[in-house]
Amino acid sequence: MIQHDILIIGAGLAGLRAAFEGVTAGLNTAVVSKIHPLRSHSCAAQGGVNAAINPKDDWHHHAYDTVKGADFIGDQDSIDLMCAEAPQAVLDIDAMGCPFSREEDGTIAQRAFGGQNFPRTAYAADRTGHAMLHTLWEQAIKYGVKVYDEYFLMSLTTDQPKGQKMPRASGAVILNIRDGSLHQINAKAVCLATGGYGRLFANNTNAMTNTGDGVAHAMRAGAPAADLEFVQFHPTGLKSSGILISEGVRGEGAYLIDKTGHRFMQKYAPNKLELASRDVVSRAMTTEVLKGNGVDGAVFLDVRHLGRDLILERLPQIRQLAIDFEGVDPIDEPIPVRPTCHYTMGGIRTDKTGQSIGVQGMFAAGEAACVSVHGANRLGANSLLETIVFGKITGKAMVEYVKGPGHFRPHSSTASLAEVSQAITTLKARPSKGATKQAHIRDELTKAMQEYCSVFRTAKTLAAAKKAVEKAKADYAKLAVDDKSDAFNTDVITALELGNLILLAEATVLTAIERTESRGAHAREDYPTRNDKKWMTHITAVATPKGEIKLGRDAVRQTGNPQYAPAERKY
Ligand code: FUM
Repeated sequence: MIQHDILIIGAGLAGLRAAFEGVTAGLNTAVVSKIHPLRSHSCAAQGGVNAAINPKDDWHHHAYDTVKGADFIGDQDSIDLMCAEAPQAVLDIDAMGCPFSREEDGTIAQRAFGGQNFPRTAYAADRTGHAMLHTLWEQAIKYGVKVYDEYFLMSLTTDQPKGQKMPRASGAVILNIRDGSLHQINAKAVCLATGGYGRLFANNTNAMTNTGDGVAHAMRAGAPAADLEFVQFHPTGLKSSGILISEGVRGEGAYLIDKTGHRFMQKYAPNKLELASRDVVSRAMTTEVLKGNGVDGAVFLDVRHLGRDLILERLPQIRQLAIDFEGVDPIDEPIPVRPTCHYTMGGIRTDKTGQSIGVQGMFAAGEAACVSVHGANRLGANSLLETIVFGKITGKAMVEYVKGPGHFRPHSSTASLAEVSQAITTLKARPSKGATKQAHIRDELTKAMQEYCSVFRTAKTLAAAKKAVEKAKADYAKLAVDDKSDAFNTDVITALELGNLILLAEATVLTAIERTESRGAHAREDYPTRNDKKWMTHITAVATPKGEIKLGRDAVRQTGNPQYAPAERKY
């Protein structure tokens, strides 16, 4: 049986940053990824990473912008920690060699991003995630992190320490995608850094791999997730494909226009205009399209006035994306864009060190986690920041946990591996003739989520989403695969991913039905106002052994310094 001190599932920025802490503390540290780490979705992050590194800025202002952006339901202890640690976290990765863009005087260049009162977004042109990921990957190689690439998470194992109520993480069962073999890994601490599940929506900015595997398995292992009702729609996805056009473009001065060329954000956010927070801008765009002021479901992002030189220097990637995927050169023409599912604020509920509130020794970092720095709406460029700050903090917390007393006894049972093996055998044995195809189930589910659980929601649309989820669940129970082989069986892998998506769809819809108010990205047209009296609480969700979703509550940690009371949110 394979043993590691620290096992991290997911090798994007959060996972690699946590691994760096483990390996440099001398612990036997491994990462598992269903793809090569350099293909992780972190690589797609364009615009930048927030940090109050300019002497004229102050991390307290960053914290307030984040609290307000989160519509006051973020945990202010976590937000304080993230914003206070941000400058050092950025300087750390700069020192590791990350090629940030520079000002003339050599300082790290920063641009404006939405919902913030200072241009505090450090960037590497419009490929910031790419630059950061390569930097941390080099460190992983340098220090000898053990990498299981092209291994898929099949289940998380736990044991039950005597005299304790909480189960304890003990490892994972993983499948080698190359040959179909199963492996049980025992570990003293397990971290989920598998990213989000934006693939739940038909139109999204996410990589194919963003199917929430870690979050779904943690929920099955008894670790509650929280804030799943809050799903972020990024205002500027390309009309046809949903591919991200960075908010950094608006930070550089681009603006949104309707079909007549009118700059409509003046009406919705007179001060911040296109740089209001994402939920505000996405609602404004959707409203304009519904009023008939768009073209083919989209409005336009106008970049032309920025000029060829600036576009080529600071926004080369988005120019190429617009040309390749929309047939439009932004130097000459406005880009058709529409709100697109981008980020899931919900994730595995943790304390501020990244440890699950439901399973001892299980940690989470990055988009897979809900340490609650984003609340109901994340600020642009706080996502890369979360990965490097909480990757670091969680990595250190795991080191402390592993080096602490009595946290580990080897998990000798092979029951989980046998169960997983049986499940795969059963799936492959089911006759494929007459069975509903998984592509069809996924298609129907993601379209229903897009239509009924989107920028605007009502009890009626959410009931339709619930019905679609129930149908997907019923069809999935009878699912068969065509490919019965072992090597690179993507038929099986995508089927398993679909199972994770369905669980997350159900939890997302149930929590969205439960929250009868509008807050941040959760806009209920039938409950149009925020209700602080009733809803200053996180909704949690866990999966029962029968695969049902059980909802609960977890208190919002209102222990910031200073502590900000909920206030009206205007931009
Ligand atoms: O628009 C962007 O560049 C995306 C950044 C983010 O989601 O943080």
